Amino acid sequence: MRVLGIESSCDETAAAIVDDGRVVRSDVVASQNEVHARYGGVVPELAARAHIQHVVPVVRAALDEAGCTLDDVDGIAATNAPGLVGALLVGLQTAKALAWVTGKPLVGVHHLEGHLSAIFLEPDPPPMPHLALIVSGGHTSIVRVEDHGHIIELGATRDDAAGEAFDKGAKLLGLGYPGGIVVDRLAQRGDPKAVAFPRPMLAPESGDDLSFSGLKTSLLHHVRAHGVPDGQALADLCASYQAAIVEALVRKTRRAARREGIAHVQVCGGVAANSALRTAMKLAGDEDGFRVHVPPPRRCTDNAAMIAGAGYFRLARGERAGLDLDANPNAPLPRRA
Ligand code: KG4
Ligand code: ZN
Repeated sequence: MRVLGIESSCDETAAAIVDDGRVVRSDVVASQNEVHARYGGVVPELAARAHIQHVVPVVRAALDEAGCTLDDVDGIAATNAPGLVGALLVGLQTAKALAWVTGKPLVGVHHLEGHLSAIFLEPDPPPMPHLALIVSGGHTSIVRVEDHGHIIELGATRDDAAGEAFDKGAKLLGLGYPGGIVVDRLAQRGDPKAVAFPRPMLAPESGDDLSFSGLKTSLLHHVRAHGVPDGQALADLCASYQAAIVEALVRKTRRAARREGIAHVQVCGGVAANSALRTAMKLAGDEDGFRVHVPPPRRCTDNAAMIAGAGYFRLARGERAGLDLDANPNAPLPRRA
């Protein structure tokens, strides 16, 4: 089954063609980084306008790169939740219009279900059930993936997402937007022990929940007291700040894996592209006896191949959305009682 996926929940306009939820025929992403960089974060109205400009050319490019037309597509999947409502609506309305004119089946995909599906585009994906750490710009959750489309959240951040911690930290250090990848790069030549940042929410009573806002405040205090350094000291500060985020994520995830008795863990979402997180999680897996699955960096950040992948499993189960399918900006994952 060939699925056209469309993603527009935040600041990437993306379209992809994927066969059977596994084989990527094309994967086109138009980034809006230049639009938002000068504001230091995503401006929702500007995001929606850029999606309107990009969506049709991006869908056309995805079809061209796959060497097919809409006639060859068996179903259409679009992200309909969660995200910026004006942004979501552009991709969703495009998908609905295409489904209506072609008569092809349509499904809506939860953005985080999309992130969880990216690993199934790779050889040797994790078996069901498995544990997942979802770390993106807007979300940070530890979930049990029982099956495709059947997710139970065990814990989540109580304030900022991990990606937000990276981006806000980078902004404070004058490193531009989005800053996660810049911090990652600078940290590679820094000393993670140079500055002792707190490791928040590691007390047992916090369960599988996390928190990053205190860490961000610590960085603010550090910068107020010492100024923004440059050269090696900046690399050291980035490495130390990053180490605090990574350690919190790894410790919570390995604790959950041990308790749940799960031997396969996937890490997904934009922050899964972080080199220190990838290394630390693999090391934890080696020590504790679980296998770590992480998509390649470009499938960690937002893309539509993952949406087409998740859409395939819904379509294959016979799910069909009507043209009344709506965008839902707030769609929390089902939480374990
Ligand atoms: O999944 P994603 O592309 O969009 C959302 O769904 O939010 O995640 C974007 C987030 C941003 O916060 C970005 O700074 C972060 O992922 N990110 C990284 C890296 N690459 C992207 N954070 C740390 N290290 C990276 N290499
Ligand atoms: Zn995302």
